[in-house]
Amino acid sequence: MGVRKMITHLFSASTLGTEAYLVEIEVDVSGGLPGISVVGLPDEAIKESKDRVKSAIKNCGYKYPSEKITVNLAPADIKKEGSCFDLAIALGILASSNQIPSQSLKDFLFLGELSLDGRIRQVCGVLPISLYLRKNKFIKRLIVPQENIYEAGIVREVDVYPMENLKEVIYFLNNFLDKKSIKFKIEDLIKNKEYEVDFSEVKGQSEAKRAIEVAVAGMHNLLMIGPPGAGKTMLAKRVPTILPEMTEEEIFETTQIYSIAGLLNKDFPLVVQRPFRMVHHTASDIALIGGGQNPKPGEVSLAHNGVLFLDELPEFHRDVLEALRQPLEDGKVTVARANRTITFLSKFLLICAMNPCYCGYYSSSLRVCKCTSYQIQRYRSKLSGPLLERIDLHIYVPELKYKALLDKREEESSLIIRQRVECALRIQRKRFEGSGIFFNSQMNTKLIKKFCILENSAERILDMAMRELNFSCRSYDRLLKVARTIADLENSEYIKAEHISEAIQYRSLDFF
Ligand SMILES: Nc1ncnc2c1ncn2[C@@H]1O[C@H](COP(=O)(O)OP(=O)(O)O)[C@@H](O)[C@H]1O
Ligand SMILES: [Mg+2]
Ligand SMILES: [Zn+2]
Repeated sequence: MGVRKMITHLFSASTLGTEAYLVEIEVDVSGGLPGISVVGLPDEAIKESKDRVKSAIKNCGYKYPSEKITVNLAPADIKKEGSCFDLAIALGILASSNQIPSQSLKDFLFLGELSLDGRIRQVCGVLPISLYLRKNKFIKRLIVPQENIYEAGIVREVDVYPMENLKEVIYFLNNFLDKKSIKFKIEDLIKNKEYEVDFSEVKGQSEAKRAIEVAVAGMHNLLMIGPPGAGKTMLAKRVPTILPEMTEEEIFETTQIYSIAGLLNKDFPLVVQRPFRMVHHTASDIALIGGGQNPKPGEVSLAHNGVLFLDELPEFHRDVLEALRQPLEDGKVTVARANRTITFLSKFLLICAMNPCYCGYYSSSLRVCKCTSYQIQRYRSKLSGPLLERIDLHIYVPELKYKALLDKREEESSLIIRQRVECALRIQRKRFEGSGIFFNSQMNTKLIKKFCILENSAERILDMAMRELNFSCRSYDRLLKVARTIADLENSEYIKAEHISEAIQYRSLDFF
């Protein structure tokens, strides 16, 4: 009894950078020499996928057709990793060999890697794909691996059906299994949002803490200079705890980056806390900026909407630091690939730390520096100029005396500091409404003229500083921007003498 064979069409998706795109899969089973050919996947991926699909079909109790199977993936010109199409390919083979009905297949988008026994394994990039479906409404139902449930389920406009194995999907498509779609509310998922660290753990260092508050309140990049053990790393790690809470769109943005990097936590695959990325100085430019054969986001993008921390700044390779220019300037990284460009967002607050010299004790009040002035000069000259130009604040962080560390006085908590920061950020949001920028640090010369209005006494101090402290012209705009933020923290419309004086203190490197 010759049953007519046919071509089955079904849909899957993949990601290029953080952009998702639809992949149409065509499966044809027809008389001919047994074997499978896959068009549109790189060789390596094809071989592995073939083996997994074949075993999964057999191990779930179905027949792997001993005929000629042709699988076509479109678009064909995009390099695909391949494993997330397994489920769709298997279903296409089963439908084209009349083992399951094919009518309902077109209403779904299928994602999942198969294991040899038919279990469906977690895949990368589910959140970008769900957001793609939210935008391009033509398929509304999404079948995903059980383990990707949260990433898909928080996009409430898409009907998400998590599945554990191939058999379950088949039963579901045959209506043997009644399964409701799953939806989550972000608010319900954000239970444990507390940071593990807090500024209250840092004893003393009130000047450094204040500088950090100013940095965050205007999104000014910051460099901390100080001897080993001063607490620079400790302070830096607490910076995200005073950043404002993430908005829903920011959660989506950052989570998408982690989703395609495959870095989401299995039990809670959402990024709801602003990231803190500490980069080692041996990191390559690709690790930092992103890219590679199959482009992945770099540290600058993993820090998106959070903090990027470069510890021991002079140890970094100059080229690596200079590569930071584009992301710092544009808030995104663009990687060119064949006929496409891939964009990863990379808007972050840059925090850097360094010792003042080789031995670490230049300008320490507790120990003596053993470096020659030539050595100190050489150490400093390692800092890349273009990078320093994008750092508005540099401060000296002294080491605390042993006694100060034992002080029992209660220190201010991150929550209290964050509340002040949020007030200052609200003022800026209002000030810059409709102008395309959000923070004081982003002002150009024209906006500085408009918004940084000095009281007379402040003007006199600034004039004197420019003349006597040997500030460069570049420092001038920077001083004004920082002073604007300090005034905002006090809800003062004009910049007063004390605001500009404080800003001057945050130019340590200009004095050294
Ligand atoms: N102000 C401080 N309050 C509490 N502990 C501190 C303080 N400063 C330093 N420490 C302790 O010293 C350790 C070393 O500090 P660290 O941040 O690594 O210094 P640095 O990065 O400047 O070399 C910290 O992990 C912390 O235990
Ligand atoms: Mg350190
Ligand atoms: Zn020294």
